[in-house]
Amino acid sequence: MCGIFGFVTVSDRPLGDVLLGAARRLAYRGYDSVGMAAIDGDGHVDLRKDVGRVDEVAARLGFTDLAGRRGIVQLRWATFGAPSRVNAQPHLDSDGDLVGAHNGNVVNNVQLRRLFADEGMIVRSTNDGESCVHAVERYVDRGASMIDAIRQAYRLLEGDYAFVIGSVADDTLYAFKKGSGLVIGLGDGFTCCSSDLPSILPLTARILRMEDGEVATLSAAGVTLHRVSDGAPVAREPEVFTGGMEAAVKGGYPHFMLKEIHEQPRVAAELLHLLDASPHVDPMAEAMQRARHLYYVGCGTSYHACLVGAVYAARLARRPVVPVLAPQFTAQYGPTLEPSDVAVFVSQSGETKDVLNALAVAGARGVTSLGLLNVIGSTLMHKSRTYLPLACGYEISVPATKTFINQVVTFLYLAYRMGGRPTDELRRLPDLLSATLDAVDPAVAALVPLFEGRRDLYQLGYGLTFGIALEGALKLKEITYAHCEGMLSTEFKHGPLSAVDEGYPVIFVAGPEDVPVMVSAVNEVTTRGGRAIAIAEPDARLEANVHDLVALPEAGALLNPLVATIPLQLLAYRLSVARGLDPDFPRNLSKTLTVD
Ligand code: M6R
Repeated sequence: MCGIFGFVTVSDRPLGDVLLGAARRLAYRGYDSVGMAAIDGDGHVDLRKDVGRVDEVAARLGFTDLAGRRGIVQLRWATFGAPSRVNAQPHLDSDGDLVGAHNGNVVNNVQLRRLFADEGMIVRSTNDGESCVHAVERYVDRGASMIDAIRQAYRLLEGDYAFVIGSVADDTLYAFKKGSGLVIGLGDGFTCCSSDLPSILPLTARILRMEDGEVATLSAAGVTLHRVSDGAPVAREPEVFTGGMEAAVKGGYPHFMLKEIHEQPRVAAELLHLLDASPHVDPMAEAMQRARHLYYVGCGTSYHACLVGAVYAARLARRPVVPVLAPQFTAQYGPTLEPSDVAVFVSQSGETKDVLNALAVAGARGVTSLGLLNVIGSTLMHKSRTYLPLACGYEISVPATKTFINQVVTFLYLAYRMGGRPTDELRRLPDLLSATLDAVDPAVAALVPLFEGRRDLYQLGYGLTFGIALEGALKLKEITYAHCEGMLSTEFKHGPLSAVDEGYPVIFVAGPEDVPVMVSAVNEVTTRGGRAIAIAEPDARLEANVHDLVALPEAGALLNPLVATIPLQLLAYRLSVARGLDPDFPRNLSKTLTVD
């Protein structure tokens, strides 16, 4: 996830150390490139940027030599345009009078680049941050003041982003946002703005949080806010942040995992904007629909998304899909693969060795390989024919949460498109995920004592929730160190039922269409003294049979798996914390498994 930081001070001074410090503090968000620009009192712009780690690029390009009155630093996590020097930020406008940088995604970037080039502007990169700069340039060149130019640019730029820009013609920086976070800091003789609070805190604790639809003008003396809609001034008092640095980095949450769980509504909304605007979705869906055999390939959590995605494809597009663990793809299907087959490789990191091995086998057999990945610039991105980004930003916690949600969202979106159907129903998803986060936590917290001392557990699903039950079980195993098996509810009676004794808890993840089949499985457990816990929409048939219900908002059969994931993530998280463990960094595990 990109990060931006802007700094304005009274007079020319060395800025490199301030900007470098901010860059180091933004680095936890994840990035592939870094750049800095300083504007001095004479309006001279010094811009330095490249691909690489902050300290390495800083040493190579002499970041600490930068001096001036205003400075901007940006860390880029690529979404539009590969990681490269030209795509790194900040960007200049056509004649070098404006310099700016953004974080987030401008989803009409391709159309805007074309428009700006047609209008005679010099477009140097494929990065959407450059489009933000040209959008402002477009109106400044027509004679608008900076604030008016920004107000008009705001209407042009679609997506979720935060942006900071400076002009050689004045002494200020301007910042605005739509969907992404932007915080302003007010210090003694300086002001600053940043994508997040942690990068500001060592400089000042006096902060002002910006809202969407506002433009901030930062000068050394202070900050003014104006509304984009009508240009009217906005009055807001700064607050003094009293939490510590660690709380700020984790967004006020005790762990990254909880923070990332709570980011899910936002990242899902951002992904949907991207998919709506992506030129790759339809060609990909068409290739998938045409394939002789279609495989969804991944490991761990990513494989569970494949399981859910395969059911979506069957339901919405009547498209049979083989969801398969990456090494088994090679072992079982390797000899049968043909060039008319398509394989979608799914990996948060894009670097999982098991997945890359399978990708190599597919490549050798001429299979069309498509990628779903979170890390732009990863090996999977480079080696797949086309890819879609999961657009989750950096996932720090070892247990995957938000990337799973966006993998499932992408598969659902592709299934709609394979079936030639509109994706309108997905518009409800971000609100549904938010409503779930608000609704389920007390019920999940009440379950924790039931699992005290338990070393083995079951989570059962059916149809669309089969993959969700497996994912819930993996989360629980991963961060509580207990054994937890996810399985098809109907399979439980074929063996594991013998584990049930008085009070033995079993979780049933029941989709709204699967209640009758779940009620049978529930009774097989309860008649043997087991405790049945349902994760489902309120349903009288279930409620009459289970002991506990974690009630989900009514989402309907297709969105239910996404919504049902949240209480399972929260349960694993709460049990981990209750056992005194660190859910972010479980023992023996690594975020990216680059070994066989
Ligand atoms: O980066 P990938 O999605 O390829 O990773 C695959 C698995 O290693 C990963 O999903 C793992 O199972 C997670 N830590 C589970 O939370």
